[in-house]
Amino acid sequence: MDIVDLLLAILHHILVFSLAGILAAEWVLVRPGLSGQSLQLLGRIDGAYGGIAMAVIVVGICRVVFGLKGWEYYVSNHAFWGKMAAFVIVGLLSIRPTMRILAWRRADDAAVPDAEIAAVRTWLRAEIGFFGLILVFAAMMARGIGY
Ligand code: HEM
Repeated sequence: MDIVDLLLAILHHILVFSLAGILAAEWVLVRPGLSGQSLQLLGRIDGAYGGIAMAVIVVGICRVVFGLKGWEYYVSNHAFWGKMAAFVIVGLLSIRPTMRILAWRRADDAAVPDAEIAAVRTWLRAEIGFFGLILVFAAMMARGIGY
C-alpha cells in the first residue's frame, strides 16, 4: 500500500464526481425560462467546472507519474489514450456552452430564448455522453484491458 497512490485516488474520485455533479446541475439549470438568479448560479457553476477540470488534469497526471503501476503501464495502454481522447472531447464540447453562458450573463435582462437553450442542451447532452465513455475507458485501463 502506498499512501501517495491512495490519496491521489481519493482526490481523483472526489474531483471527477464533482464534475459529474456540475454537469447534472447544468443540465437541470439550462431549460426554458432561464434568467435572473438561476442564470447567475449557472455562471458560477460553469466557472467552477473549468477550475475542477484543471485540477482533474493535474491530479490525473500525478496518478500516472506517482501511481503504483508506473507511467509505462498507462502510456502503452490504448484504453488510457481512449480515456484521454474522450476527456479532450468533453473539454471541446464544453467551449460552446461556456461562451453562451457568458453572453447570456452579459445580456442579463430578459429570459434566454428557447432556441438558444435547446442548442446548448444539445452540446450538454454530447458532453454527458462522452463523460460516460471516460468511465468505460477508466475501468478498462485500471484492469489492464487495451494493450
Ligand atoms: C472527467 C475526467 C475523468 C474521469 C471521469 C475519470 C475517472 C476515473 C475512474 C472512475 C477511475 C477508477 C478506475 C477503476 O479503478 O476502476 C480512474 C482512475 C485513473 N485515472 Fe481518471 N478520470 C478522469 C480524468 C483523468 C485524467 C485527465 C487522467 C490523467 C491525465 C486520469 C488518470 C487516471 C489514472 C492514472 C487512474 C488510475 C487507474 C489505475 O488504477 O490503474 N484520469 N479515473
